Amino acid sequence: MNLRAKISAVAHYVPDKILSNFDLEKMVDTSDEWIRSRTGISERRILEDGKATSDMGAEAVKRLCEQRGISPKEIDLIIVGTVTPDMFFPSTGNLIQEKVGAKNAWSYDVAAACSGFLYALASGAQYITSGMHKKVVVVGGDKMSSIVNYQDRNTCVLFGDAAAAVLLEPDEEYGIMDFILHSDGSGAEYLRMKAGGSLYPASLETVTQDWHFLYQDGKQVFKFAVTKMAEVSVKILEKNGFHGDDLALFVPHQANLRIIDAAVKRLGIDYEKVMININKYGNTTAATIPLALSEAYQQGKLEKGDLVLFATFGGGFTWGSSLLRWGMDKP
Ligand code: ACO
Repeated sequence: MNLRAKISAVAHYVPDKILSNFDLEKMVDTSDEWIRSRTGISERRILEDGKATSDMGAEAVKRLCEQRGISPKEIDLIIVGTVTPDMFFPSTGNLIQEKVGAKNAWSYDVAAACSGFLYALASGAQYITSGMHKKVVVVGGDKMSSIVNYQDRNTCVLFGDAAAAVLLEPDEEYGIMDFILHSDGSGAEYLRMKAGGSLYPASLETVTQDWHFLYQDGKQVFKFAVTKMAEVSVKILEKNGFHGDDLALFVPHQANLRIIDAAVKRLGIDYEKVMININKYGNTTAATIPLALSEAYQQGKLEKGDLVLFATFGGGFTWGSSLLRWGMDKP
């Protein structure tokens, strides 16, 4: 029988500090009503100064190991999806490895914006199905508050900080069945952080021009996201001979409730089968899918044997979906 990569544990970490829509009303020209009606977001979490993506990721990985009852020393590999690494190098994976004491693991980062978790999950799954590794940790984490301009109402209302992680182990019955993944570099100009890399290294000019902040052309991103996330969700079901009715849970990337709604409509599934927590956390970029999955698991929304669909969309452009047979008992 073919080996599958099964999610055998899932955990998350969110900072305590809440930034509400009402707090943002005092910072930029916006309103709670505008933010909720256009995005579905009420509040988001903000990590304190002096802490970074690796601190949130390490906490999520510690919780993951506790849940599974394993020592971090048993982890073979840590892959981190993030666009807010602590620094360019060493990788955030290396920093998490040290913080949790995963002495026997190797580690690296994957940069695919909001699709970072799904890309990293696809990579991690290959090491399991090939038989190379027995325990792979995949983390999605971002400290978006470190690259968001809190004077720009177009973006500062959208994002929040979080990290979440899954453990992948081999299984003959349950686990990931398929992935569909895409990139389209022609979308690069619509969602990016222009400076700080080799093209525009940090300088007085890059700082004064605000090029170290995330830039987004919301309308262009919205247009692409709303069609592509729905399309890739339907396509993976068709490819595997399933219908929307067969799904027990849909876990979409949480960027905007209206983008999620479009995918839900195309799938033709009941709203109770959709995991939504964007209202509490905003868009946490690479963390949204594992964070939503972790909360769904904690809330007892997942039964062993359930068919689960992930779908994502992000800067790059990047997008994709994954289909899996849930293999964990209820907590
Ligand atoms: N408060 C009040 N008004 C605002 C705000 C705000 N926070 N932000 C923008 N506006 C204004 C705009 O300036 C504009 O005013 P104008 O018409 O006078 O110019 C007006 O509201 C309408 O702007 P739109 O862009 O048409 O608003 P829209 O309904 O499209 O919503 C949003 C904007 C929420 C950003 C939407 O376009 C969106 O969700 N885009 C996709 C974002 C996304 O999915 N990103 C995913 C990837 S993220 C990643 O990979 C890191």
